[in-house]
Amino acid sequence: METVKTLAHYPSVQPFKWSGKDFLRGDEFSKEELEHLLQLAIHLKQLQKDGQVYQPLKGKTLGMIFDKASTRTRVSFEVGMYQLGGIGMYLNGKELQLGRGEPISDTAKVLSRYVDGIMIRTHAHSIVEELAAHASIPIINGLTDLFHPCQALADLQTILEHKGKLKGVKVAYIGDGNNVAHSLVLSAAKLGMDIRVATPAGYEMNETITRQTQALADAHGSKLLTTTDPELAVYGADIIYTDVWTSMGFEEENEIRLNAFAGYQVNEKLVKLAHKDYSFMHCLPAHRDEEVTGEIIDGPHSVVFDQAENRLHAQKAVMATLLT
Ligand code: CP
Ligand code: NVA
Repeated sequence: METVKTLAHYPSVQPFKWSGKDFLRGDEFSKEELEHLLQLAIHLKQLQKDGQVYQPLKGKTLGMIFDKASTRTRVSFEVGMYQLGGIGMYLNGKELQLGRGEPISDTAKVLSRYVDGIMIRTHAHSIVEELAAHASIPIINGLTDLFHPCQALADLQTILEHKGKLKGVKVAYIGDGNNVAHSLVLSAAKLGMDIRVATPAGYEMNETITRQTQALADAHGSKLLTTTDPELAVYGADIIYTDVWTSMGFEEENEIRLNAFAGYQVNEKLVKLAHKDYSFMHCLPAHRDEEVTGEIIDGPHSVVFDQAENRLHAQKAVMATLLT
């Protein structure tokens, strides 16, 4: 009878000693660390499916602050902590004293006395940076207006699982140059990927982040193309990725955005230009028949639920590494 392997059978994929503290943007890990984390995530996924218990975080607590709605992030972090032997504690930002004006710095210092790490989903990225600057414990960004690094890690895991490699894989991101795009390109740039980003004029990625991504791409043999032409981006692509046109916190711009993004829908006509085995990706939640047609997101090329599942495994790899 074949014995089920535990993580102990894979000395090369243990959580590693990391010199950093926080995971805020997506470019904190080196190329080698990123590759290691992805292998760890894949092994933790297998372990869970084999019914193996792996609890390096026994007795540890993760505080989870939410200033925005969430399904995947909230549930996958809480379940992930439980599976690793610890607990996740949901904290509604509005119900904390933070919501009544207690300084972020004081909140950081107080929570550092109680919990072993904080996951936070909020608006301005500066809030997370300030929290990290004053906390003595690791801070994990569960989405800000600028970054969504846990999503990027799960996405890279999904690409690796579906394409068997990352180097040279052609990823076309179509739509809003937003938080999801930023963390995806920053991490993909370290892995030798061929990244194409098509956004309407006025909705490009942040200029500084684009420059930083280009520098990483140059250093790691990746490619970065930014364009307003979705067809150019999708041509020959292995992955077509899109996200909502109106992110949380930008709802009052919805009407204007619907017009601005009209030519950026991922539909049957656009995907014809991609590689015949392309995969469709979306971080979810999705708006069918806005950024993507139902036909595509519910079709045979869609891997969106693998992405959603991999949030759990990728974040377990991050927590096992940062909180031990
Ligand atoms: N993709 C993602 O972060 O989903 P939630 O908003 O449901 O957490
Ligand atoms: N860009 C989206 C992602 C949601 C997971 C938002 O910020 O609302």
